[in-house]
Amino acid sequence: MTDIASTKGGFSTAAGGDAPAQTRPNTRKVFVKTYGCQMNVYDSQRMGDALAGEGYEPTLVIEEADLVLLNTCHIREKAAEKIYSELGRIRDMKAERATRGLETRVAVAGCVAQAEGREIIARAPVVDLVIGPQTYHRLPQALARVSDGEKVVETDYAVEDKFAELPKSDRRQISGRGVTAFLTVQEGCDKFCTFCVVPYTRGAEVSRPFAQLIDEARRLAEAGVREVTLLGQNVNAWDGEDEAGRPIGLGGLLHRLADIPGLARLRYTTSHPRDMDGELVAAHRDLPGLMPYLHLPVQSGSDTILKAMNRKHTADEYLRLLDTIRAARPDIALSGDFIVGFPGESEADFEATMNLVRTVRYASAFTFKYSPRPGTPGAEMDGHLSEAVKDERLQALNALLRQHQTEFAQSLVGKRLSVLIEKPGRHPGQIAGRSPYLQPVVLPEEIGVIGDIVEATITSTGPNSLLAEGMTKPVAQFQSPQEAPTMRSVA
Ligand code: SAH
Ligand code: SF4
Ligand code: F3S
Repeated sequence: MTDIASTKGGFSTAAGGDAPAQTRPNTRKVFVKTYGCQMNVYDSQRMGDALAGEGYEPTLVIEEADLVLLNTCHIREKAAEKIYSELGRIRDMKAERATRGLETRVAVAGCVAQAEGREIIARAPVVDLVIGPQTYHRLPQALARVSDGEKVVETDYAVEDKFAELPKSDRRQISGRGVTAFLTVQEGCDKFCTFCVVPYTRGAEVSRPFAQLIDEARRLAEAGVREVTLLGQNVNAWDGEDEAGRPIGLGGLLHRLADIPGLARLRYTTSHPRDMDGELVAAHRDLPGLMPYLHLPVQSGSDTILKAMNRKHTADEYLRLLDTIRAARPDIALSGDFIVGFPGESEADFEATMNLVRTVRYASAFTFKYSPRPGTPGAEMDGHLSEAVKDERLQALNALLRQHQTEFAQSLVGKRLSVLIEKPGRHPGQIAGRSPYLQPVVLPEEIGVIGDIVEATITSTGPNSLLAEGMTKPVAQFQSPQEAPTMRSVA
């Protein structure tokens, strides 16, 4: 039920790690703002690490920044338009800095960059550099070209392997981000759902090679990361070859990652129902470290709408798949994405979605009003619905999902859950972590230290969190980029 939000500022907080952060004279500062999904969070980190090699330090204060980098999202109209209002504010800030004799570079990365390219500069001349997700490894060189007084647009699909070329994050950069981490294993999409821009902004499905992923996961574990979330627009379409050259899918990869010392918890997101194969379902049965929480979007419960969306499965096939997954891992909880008001959606179609939700009982979900996107088949379809109808359906669906979410949280009271401790609590005496289902959990601090996985009895539920034994005060939720369980919500 969260919509796109954003994370501001530094890509690495220099806490922890094996060496103190050095403040060098004449270092330049970069302010990074990330919109959209977790893949953008991961990309911002990798771009930040690449810029660190060029002498850029992160700042949370935009007025201090010599470089402002917006990592953008194009998924819905609102997400894309938000960038232009931000660029308006940045224009004023750049003018103010100029009066102090300070130069400011402005770069736009991410899916708006890929989708709109040079048009961004035409609409917002404050922008110096537009760089698409496939060319982030060329960011330092592209910035150097800007320094020569040129505006630069880099949106070609690179032939070289971006991930192999990007500098590896060092131990201090990794540990500064905490005990949970993202790892992109797959990028792009070949599914072409008729509402969606991702196949156009992220390109065709590409899997990162097995050896590269094992190496990156080991480096994360060695820097103290306990939980890794594998990312991909269709993460379960990942395929590769193991060390012996045998073909494996995501299930096989998860098995190998589970063997890495120190990595205690694994997650993956976002999956397409069509790519949930037997190997992956079996991994949910066989790997205790694979968290029993699965984000498996269905979008609609109506077969007519699923067909019009080109989702390539029926509601019944989805429900039968869930039966198989639940048979493999009975304590699994589900999360999903829904679009209301797709063109042609009748009252009966919407009711079919409500019925599917009643059947599945999601532990959490994300809901969206259909937003027509330029260049997608959905935008050209007949039967677009009014905002009023979309609003009404969204509210009804949200109310039902919220009720199930609350009931799910309440069903955990009295149970013992494993909790990964991630950060200090808001109030003295508290420490905060995550349940297997990604819920924030507030615990008494004597239970353990950051990075520990403890068993705790849940005693009550707060508005957005669970309270574990010893905690009596209800406490508001805490925020972290890892909080969002799906591909789109950041902090
Ligand atoms: N690859 C993922 C989803 C990526 S986009 C998947 O297949 O599930 C994240 C979510 O945004 C989608 O699941 C969908 O619910 C929503 N979304 C995508 N395009 C949209 C649009 N044009 N209007 C409204 N919601 C949209
Ligand atoms: Fe691909 Fe997901 Fe978008 Fe469908 S919704 S086109 S599967 S990214
Ligand atoms: Fe948005 Fe691109 Fe992610 S459109 S949801 S940032 S893949």
